[in-house]
Amino acid sequence: MPFVTAAEVTLRPPLKWAGGKRWQVPHLRPLWKPHTDRRLVEPFCGGLAVALGLKPAKALLNDANPHLVNFYTWLQRGLQIHIPMENDEQLFYRHRDRFNTLLADGDGQTEEAAALFYFLNRTGFNGLCRFNRRGLFNVPFGRYSRIRYTRDFSVYRGALAGWAFTSGDVECLPLERDDFVYADPPYDVEFTQYARGGFTWRDQERTARWLSRHPGPVVLVNQATERMEKLYRSLGYVVRFLRAPRRISCTGDRTPAREIMGMRNV
Ligand SMILES: C[S@@+](CC[C@H](N)C(=O)[O-])C[C@H]1O[C@@H](n2cnc3c(N)ncnc32)[C@H](O)[C@@H]1O
Repeated sequence: MPFVTAAEVTLRPPLKWAGGKRWQVPHLRPLWKPHTDRRLVEPFCGGLAVALGLKPAKALLNDANPHLVNFYTWLQRGLQIHIPMENDEQLFYRHRDRFNTLLADGDGQTEEAAALFYFLNRTGFNGLCRFNRRGLFNVPFGRYSRIRYTRDFSVYRGALAGWAFTSGDVECLPLERDDFVYADPPYDVEFTQYARGGFTWRDQERTARWLSRHPGPVVLVNQATERMEKLYRSLGYVVRFLRAPRRISCTGDRTPAREIMGMRNV
């Protein structure tokens, strides 16, 4: 595969990832356009939908999930997958066991771990990434009727060449003055004890406060809860609302989610 840069190709996010924001790219493009010479920083890069959509030449992409970030660093090296990949329950559990053995042996950063992570993501239930208390990946088989697997990821090598990946907490990111920050933390879920991905209200507050001190452009998005709007406004963000695509929730509710976008220095 010839070496093609991010600007020259349009690539799809290679994984299924909850909360993907590909639908926001048309809203973000005009905000990003005057700043394309800057570095794009995503403290919560998740499935990479936004970076692959905006195609910056320079980027710093972070996520707290180390397996996700390991997969991306192998993508940068033109990952080739050689393990057997089929939509088969027995094979799924064999690969899941092998992945857990690698993690237990401290080999979670290997190319094999990246290949297994990809297979488990495509074949497991809803593309979930979940671990039990002992740190074992415990997502069950997904029961899809058909799955398309990719083996040759060499096209991502050029596209990701100018990007750096890190795995850590949002506030550990070494921001530079001129960075353009797009931050998409786990959704704020009001009126429940349950914090998505362990991301609490306190985490939402510290993220919004930390980014409000950044002198460069910041776009911060979330579910449009009342307290989120209040927080953004209190920190001086300019607020806009977006209508997210319809999702069918477990209650069958088809109401489109409302999203809030807080902007500073854009
Ligand atoms: C809503 S998703 C981001 C989706 C992404 N924008 C996309 O389009 O695919 C939120 C991400 O934040 C990550 N995350 C959760 N807590 C974090 C933390 N404290 N610091 C950094 N990343 C975190 C999760 O692993 C998850 O991938």
